[in-house]
Amino acid sequence: MSTKTTLGIFGLGTVGTGVVDLLRDNPQFDIRAISVRDRAKQRDFDFSEFEMNQDPFKLADDPTIEILVEVAGGIDPAYEVVKRAIINGKHIVTANKEMIAKHGPELFALANQHKVTIFFEAAVGGGIPLISTLQRGLQANKVSRVAGIVNGTTNYILTKMEREQKSFADALAEAQAAGFAEADPSDDILGRDVVYKITILSSLAFQAPIEVEKIYRQGITEITDLDIKLAREFGYRIKMIGLAQRGENPGNSDALDVRVHPMLVPLTHPLAGVDGVNNAIFISGSAVGEIMLMGPGAGRYPTASAVVGDVINIASAIKLPDFAQYFQLPISSNVSQVMPIDESENGYYIRLETHDSPGVIGHLGSAFGNHGVSLHSFTQRGVTEDGTATIVLLTHRVKEKQLQAALKEITDNPTTKQIGVVLRVLS
Ligand SMILES: NC(=O)c1ccc[n+]([C@@H]2O[C@H](COP(=O)([O-])OP(=O)(O)OC[C@H]3O[C@@H](n4cnc5c(N)ncnc54)[C@H](OP(=O)(O)O)[C@@H]3O)[C@@H](O)[C@H]2O)c1
Repeated sequence: MSTKTTLGIFGLGTVGTGVVDLLRDNPQFDIRAISVRDRAKQRDFDFSEFEMNQDPFKLADDPTIEILVEVAGGIDPAYEVVKRAIINGKHIVTANKEMIAKHGPELFALANQHKVTIFFEAAVGGGIPLISTLQRGLQANKVSRVAGIVNGTTNYILTKMEREQKSFADALAEAQAAGFAEADPSDDILGRDVVYKITILSSLAFQAPIEVEKIYRQGITEITDLDIKLAREFGYRIKMIGLAQRGENPGNSDALDVRVHPMLVPLTHPLAGVDGVNNAIFISGSAVGEIMLMGPGAGRYPTASAVVGDVINIASAIKLPDFAQYFQLPISSNVSQVMPIDESENGYYIRLETHDSPGVIGHLGSAFGNHGVSLHSFTQRGVTEDGTATIVLLTHRVKEKQLQAALKEITDNPTTKQIGVVLRVLS
């Protein structure tokens, strides 16, 4: 009998190509078959030595395959293929954040039932060994907060806007030209990608699943170069952040505060220095204190590094009795509540446009005062020809619902033209 660990690879795109390239000369592994959508497609390397098919269910049903590596992405057909493979007793290695965020609890339960394991190191933070750090390295800790820059595309855009004074549209176009943003960038710039990732990180950090749909999300599309410049003057950099922390609401203490939005990060915070397509995750633990993991969050070989690491980990344990049990995730089956965004507490950056008329400042002051919002800083930019004044304010920490009530009063006042953007400040 062969002592090699047998693999089926589902997907041969950016990540799959890297995975096969790293594994093909490793004598410990036997790649039995690869599934792709289009066998005739031109590939970056010669893969003619491998059996290739267009039906991933064949991998799930092949009794000679021990580990299914799912690097196709999306829900359909990945989710059904993975389920079938689990039922057929295969271990799973996947890079699929969307599938794990949406169906993780169900898949983990199914895997436990069939005594197999699911590894997903590449699903968050690409090449950064982040999942295993949360899952194993930090077990001695009660984690209080995970805050991360986990989307390289938005970090690239925001870095370009700051460094080269580019508009959002120009920075996005450059990200696309450089291959860092998809032709349809909406999952990235509207924050959906970060929602999937923070869902996974939160469930590992707090050992309870949460529902993707409950997570508040704000994209980066409303941010202008002026916001980036003023934030800098106030002592911050704007970063797209996935945040998961224990709630501070005494009335609802079990609810987790999990959300995805751009934030003003103090220049002194380690996350402020994370530039370009890099990812970084800042974790606060009861014993370890604060740590930050940083590195390439995407790309062929960084991501393949995480996938192949998982494959090697499974292969080295696969012959041990009860091995899958050892890797069972300590995640409760009870879904944790997510705190409504209204209940969260933040400092805020507000850019608004008003008519340049007397009384505007007094009105703003009383609207904030009426709702208990105290101001930290204030600046007014020049008045345009049509008489529009741009006013930018920073508030002290306050409940979101108080801020929203003040903003409603401000919007209802005829001197206000529009609220341009509201951003939260990381404290
Ligand atoms: N790209 C990254 O840097 C990165 C980083 C971290 C995580 N990930 C995750 O890794 C996964 C793969 O990403 P990727 O960028 O490598 O994607 P990709 O380049 O689009 O590759 C997808 C691969 O899956 C194959 N495929 C798709 N649907 C299929 C179907 N129905 N049947 C058979 N094969 C099918 C495609 O076949 P064809 O080649 O024939 O089209 C292709 O080879 C995703 O879950 C992604 O979120 C990616």
